[in-house]
Amino acid sequence: MPTFKLDGKEIPFTPGQTIITAAWKQGIDIPHYCWHPGLSVAANCRMCLVEILPPPNQRAVMLDVLEWDASKNDYVPQRKPKLQPACQMAVTEGMEVRSDTSDHVKKARKDVQEFLLLNHPVDCPICDQAGECKLQDYWLEHGQYQKRMRDEPVHKPKAVSFGPTIVYDAERCIVCTRCIRFMDEVAKDPVLDQRERGNIKEIVVAPGRQLEGNYTFMVDHVCPVGALTTKDFRFKARVWFLRGAQSICQGCATGCNAWLDFDPRYNKVERYRPRENEAVNKFWMCDQGMVSYRAAHEGRVVDARAGGKAAAPVKALEKAKKLLDGVPGASIAIVLSAQMSLEDNWALVELGKLLGATSTFFARAADGDSDNILLSADKNSNTAGVKLLAPDAKPWADFLAGVDSGSIRHAIALGAITPDTEGDKTKLDKLEALVVVASHESALSSAASVLLPATSWAEQNGTYVNKQGHKQKAEKAIEPQGASRQALLFLADLATALGHEPTWKKYKDVAAKLEVSEPSTVQAVLPTTATQAV
Ligand code: SF4
Ligand code: SF4
Ligand code: FES
Repeated sequence: MPTFKLDGKEIPFTPGQTIITAAWKQGIDIPHYCWHPGLSVAANCRMCLVEILPPPNQRAVMLDVLEWDASKNDYVPQRKPKLQPACQMAVTEGMEVRSDTSDHVKKARKDVQEFLLLNHPVDCPICDQAGECKLQDYWLEHGQYQKRMRDEPVHKPKAVSFGPTIVYDAERCIVCTRCIRFMDEVAKDPVLDQRERGNIKEIVVAPGRQLEGNYTFMVDHVCPVGALTTKDFRFKARVWFLRGAQSICQGCATGCNAWLDFDPRYNKVERYRPRENEAVNKFWMCDQGMVSYRAAHEGRVVDARAGGKAAAPVKALEKAKKLLDGVPGASIAIVLSAQMSLEDNWALVELGKLLGATSTFFARAADGDSDNILLSADKNSNTAGVKLLAPDAKPWADFLAGVDSGSIRHAIALGAITPDTEGDKTKLDKLEALVVVASHESALSSAASVLLPATSWAEQNGTYVNKQGHKQKAEKAIEPQGASRQALLFLADLATALGHEPTWKKYKDVAAKLEVSEPSTVQAVLPTTATQAV
């Protein structure tokens, strides 16, 4: 692989790559605002300026400038090398680039910072981006000057509603055009543009339009400053209180990689942020997925029930034993869930084997809308995982038909949102015994003779297989809510209660059998924000 030198260090690159991309691939950050690895190059912010040394025997391109000389109290003529934007300049073999080691570059960065902040309101204390804002970070790293401008800054529109999800603050906007390029290039809806020139320039929505569709949240995430914020997260939390768990969106079979940000003080999930994965979702998530973090608290089953009434989990287990004791294993139906983890489904398959169950089904949500960007019609996060564990598992409709005809009278199920809640419940009520381990309310939970509260994806480590077949790990964010425990633990207890010795006792046992490593640990949001990473 060819290489070039950046601050004296050899950096490999692929032909056609820009300096900033080659550096970024090696984990080296060249300061930038308008550049984003998932978008085209605009080269308008000038924060990424670097010094490129001339090839041997050639002279550097120099610029004549005037510089302030305090001793003479006047401007004096000077010469300085012409700096180049690293986001636009393609690398060539043997090129020598100076970034952090060039005094000219350091001065340019400081000047760009001062220029971008000339008319900025510096309303960081009430800005939702505070703590993950590139203007703040780069001012600390490359600015640290005393403000020289004494004039009233230019005032521009504030708190402009761009549509149902996004609010725009023109005074905080540095007109990097990332939002415009995202809507044009990724969402394929060029609804944003810029108007005016210079310091009165601002971003606008096309006349007669709103910023809407299924990819509006992403403009907030590509915005490097606090100019675009979501109505969903606005004024809700300060990011320095949050922690981010490496999670997987549960909204559909695409399985977008995400940070699940939560406040450990209140055990509360606050938002999703996209997590980069070139093979799955690149840098993006859809709006449906972005708001699906709410399922961490909405519709949760947090207490056990027996006969429809609240009960301690141990009492509910006793009731399950009573209902299933003496029932031949072969006549107990096993119902897996395309919405729960590979580990939990594996435990139910194992329990079925211990009992001698012969019929396995799987429950899944009905198909929904899709697009050609990310969104899949399959609204289940683990359909492929269930098929991997139980290729012969029959569909939900077959299970319901068996229940309806009376051929199935006993079942153990992992809870899942099913296609037709009301209709499904009417049929499920015909069962003599239905033991359900569920994280969320559904037809299964409301028809359950015994309901055991399972932790959701947000409260446990788990693996989900997306439609491409990638086994993706989601790590635990918040602590289990109410009496909930990981489904595989309740299933082990159920196996014991029914007189069998489970081959698993805890999550680690199942992970080892499935050969999935445990997800890494939760990280503080601040050093790992999406905006800092890109
Ligand atoms: S709103 Fe944000 S992303 Fe859009 S141009 Fe302004 S600073 Fe850039
Ligand atoms: S495409 Fe699917 S997995 Fe990705 S964010 Fe949207 S709902 Fe979630
Ligand atoms: S990042 Fe290169 S000019 Fe903006």
